[in-house]
Amino acid sequence: MSTAEDHHDPERRDFLYYATAGAGAVTAGAVVWPLVNQMNPSADVRALSELRQDIEMEPGEQIRVLWQGKPVFIRRRTEEEINSARDVPVGDLQDPDARNGNDYGAPATDANRSFGENDEYVLFMGVCTHLGCVPVGAGEGDFGGWFCPCHGSHYDMAGRIRRGPAPENLHIPEFDFEEGVVVLKKQYKP
Ligand code: FES
Repeated sequence: MSTAEDHHDPERRDFLYYATAGAGAVTAGAVVWPLVNQMNPSADVRALSELRQDIEMEPGEQIRVLWQGKPVFIRRRTEEEINSARDVPVGDLQDPDARNGNDYGAPATDANRSFGENDEYVLFMGVCTHLGCVPVGAGEGDFGGWFCPCHGSHYDMAGRIRRGPAPENLHIPEFDFEEGVVVLKKQYKP
């Protein structure tokens, strides 16, 4: 059973504040500026933290990619899979929050956890929100989505926790989607 590792987010940097005063300020500033500039994430570092992925695939197909040391599941759902997730009232969910890095605080409707012309795609971290195991699926567990065998967490076809100890829906990172390509940008921060 694999466990996803925590990964340092390069954008989460400590900030340094410099206080200068009097005649020394100009001289000190000349030294300090390159240092501060050097500590900002460079374009190269930002590019490394992002992942561009082609997601052209047939309904029912799924890919798994590794991003920032963690698995990401991307699936193009079938009509039946979409309907099974759409038919669930938010009031029936264990976690009513979409856990979506593109829309923090949104309710966990299927529409808020999917994308594409007909909401056919889902994308989320393949990391169980209980203790971090990697769930199996899709088509597994009591709700036909993903299942984490470590302690028995059942997720549905929108990656929402439906039964078991996991406290939250599978996290959706911040990403862009355009013309069959996604760009993973930033981890979801609970
Ligand atoms: S880690 Fe998934 S159920 Fe415990």
